[in-house]
Amino acid sequence: MTLEPGEVAVYSGWDASADAWIAVIGETGDWGRRFVLDRPMLERCHGRGFARALDIGCGEGRFCRMLAAEGMATVGIDPTGALIEQARRLHPDGDYRVEAAEATSLPDAAFDLVVSYLSLIDIADLDAAIAEVHRLLRPGGSLLIANLQSFNTAAEPLGWSHEPDGSRRFSIDHYLEIRQRLTEWQGISICNWHRPMQSYMRALLDAGFELRHFAEPAPDPDCTGPKADRYRRVPNFLIMEWQKPLGAWRDNFDPRGSLLGETGRETDPVFPQALS
Ligand SMILES: C[S@@+](CC[C@H](N)C(=O)[O-])C[C@H]1O[C@@H](n2cnc3c(N)ncnc32)[C@H](O)[C@@H]1O
Repeated sequence: MTLEPGEVAVYSGWDASADAWIAVIGETGDWGRRFVLDRPMLERCHGRGFARALDIGCGEGRFCRMLAAEGMATVGIDPTGALIEQARRLHPDGDYRVEAAEATSLPDAAFDLVVSYLSLIDIADLDAAIAEVHRLLRPGGSLLIANLQSFNTAAEPLGWSHEPDGSRRFSIDHYLEIRQRLTEWQGISICNWHRPMQSYMRALLDAGFELRHFAEPAPDPDCTGPKADRYRRVPNFLIMEWQKPLGAWRDNFDPRGSLLGETGRETDPVFPQALS
């Protein structure tokens, strides 16, 4: 599959669901972000010396705003125009672009951190997106992923069922079959993807990434109640950090190329202000 910058592979429902998504995310993020993912995701970003971050599938830009608050120069990309408009409204100084992760207009090795915060499940061409992230990271840079667990996206039909004895069970089926799945909640109606874990691992390994961190976070310890109990029984999310090896110089990558323009003067097409 070959995509031009900004082209989206298949209908996803995100345009029609943008208003509902913005309402669900609100100012603090939804339950899973607030009580499970935000803290460990930010911990992986904090104090690491990351200066330039790209968020693929940034949505309405919440995590970009959090990284900007950490002092990073950020770019957020997302093919859903209404979400990018909202990101620009909420963060007028930010850099938000309507682009798909599979093929961007961004230059080689421009970032030392790329984040995919619950967006790999929504990206149609996983292999293309991972190869593109590899191109966009500088050698030694990190790809930080929060994703739904593959056993979660294989849940049939809703995951949790009530047993005759009143207990609850989580069931999955057709785990190895890659497929699009319609998901609907709180006015949001989207098609994302179920892929077995091996699809993600193969795509990342084949692209040349090295795994540096893996976690299956539970809700924060002070978060209690039936929903937290369910999340502890079946952890919905995983977090991975993958590194582009320091020796991974691409054939077409001049180590000075992203910093030096044709004139030899320092230029940077993504962050011109960062080098002035
Ligand atoms: C579950 S939302 C997550 C948004 C944001 N990262 C967050 O955590 O709030 C998934 C996002 O992936 C975006 N998306 C869908 N297809 C994409 C693609 N091919 N490339 C990049 N993002 C995509 C959707 O528009 C949507 O904003």
